[in-house]
Amino acid sequence: MLNWDDPLSIPATKTEDPTPPFSSGGGVHPRPGDGLQDNAMLMATAGAAPAVNPDPAASLANNPHPAANPLRGGNIGFEDLQMGAERIRVDDKQIINCRADLNQLVPFKYDWAWQKYLDACANHWMPQEINMNADIALWKDPNGLSEDERTVIKRNMGFFSTADSLVANNLVLAVYRHITNPECRQYLLRQAFEEAIHTHAYQYVVESLGMDEGEIFNMYREVPAVAKKAEWALPFTQYLSDPNFYTGTPETDQKLLRELVAFYVIFEGIFFYVGFVQVLSMGRRNKMVGTAEQFQYILRDESMHMNFGIDVINQIKIENPHLWTDGFKEEIAAMIRDAVALETQYAHDTMPRGILGLNANTFEEYLHFIANRRCSQIGLPEQYRGAANPFPWMSEVLDLKKEKNFFETRVTEYQTGGALNWD
Ligand SMILES: [Fe+2]
Ligand SMILES: [Fe+2]
Repeated sequence: MLNWDDPLSIPATKTEDPTPPFSSGGGVHPRPGDGLQDNAMLMATAGAAPAVNPDPAASLANNPHPAANPLRGGNIGFEDLQMGAERIRVDDKQIINCRADLNQLVPFKYDWAWQKYLDACANHWMPQEINMNADIALWKDPNGLSEDERTVIKRNMGFFSTADSLVANNLVLAVYRHITNPECRQYLLRQAFEEAIHTHAYQYVVESLGMDEGEIFNMYREVPAVAKKAEWALPFTQYLSDPNFYTGTPETDQKLLRELVAFYVIFEGIFFYVGFVQVLSMGRRNKMVGTAEQFQYILRDESMHMNFGIDVINQIKIENPHLWTDGFKEEIAAMIRDAVALETQYAHDTMPRGILGLNANTFEEYLHFIANRRCSQIGLPEQYRGAANPFPWMSEVLDLKKEKNFFETRVTEYQTGGALNWD
């Protein structure tokens, strides 16, 4: 049962990790599975987004960390087999800069990562399983929706349809290579498939409603409110996808952490949430119920993606406490504040007059609330004192088992048993 106020319980990392929950100036650092699932964290200061290394060859040659450099014997998973080598021990494994063979899944070290992979598989769903008939009738009825309501749906289709592709490309082309742990990579592979399902879901809604595909899929380039958030995120993934970028130094390891925050905590943990609230609010009022149901399943997936990313960030901090300096923490907090301002602007741009009992000011309060939660999950102080949650029903939306009548449409428990029948 998923509920972002009562997140997945994840067993503590299985290891003889000698590092106690540590503090360094800013407070105790959460551990993966310590109950602070759900929120996220940081972002670069305005105008400080990383640029692609202008001299990739130099970054390779100058990286002194052997685990970070394949030419010096580092590990990405394509190394030569070493017949008769010592067996891998749990304590050989690390989230980043690991030298143990990445093609061998067990012994597990990070049980929380494997459990998330199992949970994600159990939540499998496909867009075509959701009935879109009521949406089609409403969308085609000239009096079915107000122009402002149509704008909200179209803008969110425009944003999410490309945003999920951006997240998928970031996972496969930037993040995956730098996460040197097989059980985490197993989850990343599952997440990548889920991002494909999400992109499929948006395409399916656009096609079902007979929307202008050219208008929707080009909003990414033609509508500033849609483009701004992708523009913000792109430099981070461009940096890490540089084939000559390797972790292994404090500077490059911090770049990876910065990027993980940018995508898991901010892009998936803040930039999606105005759109989620807008579309799910329509579903609660019995409008666009099929689209809202698609979003409900997507929200459930995204909540788990974010929690996984937060666990990875916190585990990297535990294994590399020297990265989490006061200056870096302030940089990350500034990234989050910038992101909140950007997402608040998205609320104004998509809903200038207020609909469904919502208005942009309410969203600002909500964004402050979730940003505080993201900060606490990664061990940063809250940035917005006293922010309250104006949409407590959003927590309930995640709990599909209790919400079978939520949209008064067919809600199936997408649990797959995995049984094989040889006949
Ligand atoms: Fe997604
Ligand atoms: Fe995601």
